[in-house]
Amino acid sequence: MSESNENKFSPELLSFINEWKDKPGNLIMVLHKVQEEQDYISREAADQVAALLDVPLATIWGVVSFYHFFKLTKPGKHNIQICMGTACYLKGAQPLIDELAKQLAIEVNEVTDDGLFSLEAVRCVGCCGLAPVLTVGGEVFGKVTKDQIAGIIAKYK
Ligand code: FES
Repeated sequence: MSESNENKFSPELLSFINEWKDKPGNLIMVLHKVQEEQDYISREAADQVAALLDVPLATIWGVVSFYHFFKLTKPGKHNIQICMGTACYLKGAQPLIDELAKQLAIEVNEVTDDGLFSLEAVRCVGCCGLAPVLTVGGEVFGKVTKDQIAGIIAKYK
């Protein structure tokens, strides 16, 4: 079976890893960089980091599962993040999640069958004045109402 290009580290990532190879705390830095490049930590990526840094695979999985930040499954092409911070929660974030889940036919932390969307509940994204807030691939939508959800999804199809 040929190796998929998808999980190949770029030359920049490899040189970053090389640079950090012998520095303390390098594992987290490297994993951050891997996720930045590949959107999640795949099994292949974890294997490769283990080999390059010469650390046991179990140590990598320990770090990845301890920190919420790391994702173990590939997100959709458009990752929808719903803020569940206090302000957004109080202004109705949960009904927005319910509506998104219904329209996309997935639950939080799942990906649609076509790989287009994933749904994620996150902590305060720092624009509470716009609550309730959701972001799609970094684009921020504020004061979102349930009836805007279909339009937001359609924008990314
Ligand atoms: S609580 Fe949602 S942006 Fe702060």
